Amino acid sequence: MDEPRTRQTKDGITLHEPADFAGMLKAGRVAAEILDQVGGLVAPGVTTEVLDDFIRAEIERRAVVSATIGYRGYQHASCISVNHVVCHGIPGPKVLKDGDILNIDVTVIVDGWYGDTSRMYVAGDLPRKAERLIQVTHDALFKGIEAVRPGKTFGDIGHAIQSYVEANRMSVVRDFCGHGLGRVFHAPPNVLHYGRPGTGPRLEEGMFFTIEPMVNLGRPETKVLADDWTAVTRDKSLSAQFEHSVGVTADGCELFTLSPAGKFHPTW
Ligand code: MF3
Ligand code: CO
Ligand code: CO
Repeated sequence: MDEPRTRQTKDGITLHEPADFAGMLKAGRVAAEILDQVGGLVAPGVTTEVLDDFIRAEIERRAVVSATIGYRGYQHASCISVNHVVCHGIPGPKVLKDGDILNIDVTVIVDGWYGDTSRMYVAGDLPRKAERLIQVTHDALFKGIEAVRPGKTFGDIGHAIQSYVEANRMSVVRDFCGHGLGRVFHAPPNVLHYGRPGTGPRLEEGMFFTIEPMVNLGRPETKVLADDWTAVTRDKSLSAQFEHSVGVTADGCELFTLSPAGKFHPTW
């Protein structure tokens, strides 16, 4: 039998077929449903490994596959990034306390398609400064999403995010970016959350990628801890992140990872 032919741009970005959108939507929905469910467990006194155990059990119950367990030696079904952790926080015995904010990031593989999404949660009461950070980060993601349609460029997406964040006197993390995905976890292009209008590859129908801005209350610099995964803000300022997986359509984009319960944001 012939291999399925996949079209690619000169930048190595895969152009998926219309039928592929259904596979991505199924995978994205599973990841989003699991994020909806785990929200019920987030509270002061709970450890991040309890949250990860729940996610792992939900992945097993649904007979789908975790994309992160075994990925470059990573051992967990989620990344859980608390307060000044920017991304790739490793679930463990850390106990959440009142006012902690956390990002939970889940990627699943369903029928070979990858669904990758993350959002913010709060343990107990949301402090005012954290609330502002979370709102700006959420809205920055949607500024980026609004820039997704054929003919725009990846620089337009980055610029939309960066200009919004900086107008709110917060900073965009440069050290991590979004990525193409589909039948693979991380593919071209790097989706930068900063940039100049009109630069970078041009968007075309059938491109699938994530947008996942990380925003800091303080400076943008990060460092990775000795565990080789946990990325933190160098100045210890609070950091937030939201992530959707999207596909470029003829006139805009489709969000594959919308929350079925409408709970994408911690105050919804
Ligand atoms: N889900 C993350 C992303 O948005 C990647 C996590 S890789 C892991 O790309 F190994 F840290 F889990
Ligand atoms: Co991602
Ligand atoms: Co992710």
